[in-house]
Amino acid sequence: MDKIFIIGNKPLSGEVQISGAKNAVLPIMAAALMVKGNSKITRVPRLKDTFTMIQLMEIIGAKCDFEGNTLLVNGDNINNPEAPYELVKTMRASFYVLGPLISRFGFVKVSLPGGCAWGPRPVDFHLKALEKLGAKITLKGGYILAEAKRLIGCKIGLDFPSVGATGNILMAASTAQGKTIISNAAREPEIGQLCRYLNKMGANISGIGTTNLVIDGVEKLNASNIEVIPDRIEVGTFLAAGALLGKIKLNQLNPKHLKSVLQQLKKAGCHIEETNNSLTITKANSIKPLNIETKVYPGFPTDLQAQWISIMILANGRSKVTDNVYYDRFSHVPELNRFGANIKLKKNTAFIEGVKEIIGAPVMSTDIRASASLIIAGLAARGKTEINRVYHIDRGYENIEDKFRQIGADIWREKG
Ligand code: EPU
Repeated sequence: MDKIFIIGNKPLSGEVQISGAKNAVLPIMAAALMVKGNSKITRVPRLKDTFTMIQLMEIIGAKCDFEGNTLLVNGDNINNPEAPYELVKTMRASFYVLGPLISRFGFVKVSLPGGCAWGPRPVDFHLKALEKLGAKITLKGGYILAEAKRLIGCKIGLDFPSVGATGNILMAASTAQGKTIISNAAREPEIGQLCRYLNKMGANISGIGTTNLVIDGVEKLNASNIEVIPDRIEVGTFLAAGALLGKIKLNQLNPKHLKSVLQQLKKAGCHIEETNNSLTITKANSIKPLNIETKVYPGFPTDLQAQWISIMILANGRSKVTDNVYYDRFSHVPELNRFGANIKLKKNTAFIEGVKEIIGAPVMSTDIRASASLIIAGLAARGKTEINRVYHIDRGYENIEDKFRQIGADIWREKG
């Protein structure tokens, strides 16, 4: 298994190009399964998760050509509406094929995702919504079987604005008969982009960017092209490193997607310059401790909670970080304490007592964002850090060591 090594406490400076967003491209790839013909998706990050999605799409019958950051999908011979356990267990986002495949085939078989390192992560909203749209759902041998000749539009109120459930409903309802209204829908930028892509394919979705999405069902969608939006979580990860270590300019991004994060970084003492497609962060002289809570968009994202804790461990005093989206998403806390951080967990809140310095240590990645927080801590720590199980980071970050090395970090990978 590969390991990442870091000699920390080196100043960072320079520019970083931001990649396309993992959480935007995965549902877009699933949507491309809805149509015959060629779909061209550009700015696709080369991640373990995009390769897993390609593997799944090929099992389903799509032809995929992935060169550089451009993915061509041909959907002419799609004939196997099934997502096997072997892939769903490695990437929960495989569940995104549920909506597109029931829309195209009237039948789909998808492995039920199991638990995850940070809690049960159920899919009940997806299934309840499909049932409301008229699908017959059964569970057999660990698989969800959903069936409906044609779905019928209806009103769906989500108990929580789930990103995945909103995405699946949008795709399923695009070709349903009649109107579907989703209230309490997710309004993350990645969902906005999925709506725009579906509309380019011929769907009729309005209310984009709000919590009330209206989908007027159409008979059929057609293949279309799209460029993936910038990865706001990758941006936030580099901003967290910049907050502690220097002056970094991040390019090809959308600062509007990061308002809540930028607000907190400024309050913490960082200097930030913004243009319409770049951000430059200069580290704070002394990090001011702040209490934050994660919320759905446009609130502070749960996908940056771990990286934010890596900043706060070096703050000048006490702070609190509460995750309201995933109560158990704190596997990075004991690992960060191995660097000499002082964090105590109580339910879904991390209580952090800032320390003056942290010292490099051998640590273990536990999920994508937890791994990012360990890299940030390793970069800020004195001495050598060894990060194990880095396959987690490869799921969600494109060339992360190269990008950090380009701005002066002493970071390398050893193949194992
Ligand atoms: N939930 C349910 N039932 C459901 C669906 C969700 O109770 O049927 C709950 C979840 O347990 C959670 C909350 O609703 O407490 C929000 O979950 P959501 O469905 O929004 O999450 P997701 O769609 O499974 C996506 C991202 C995650 C990100 C979350 C929250 C993708 C592929 N994944 O997951 O990204 O944390 O939204 O913003 O888009 C990551 O990139 O590292 C990552 C985990």
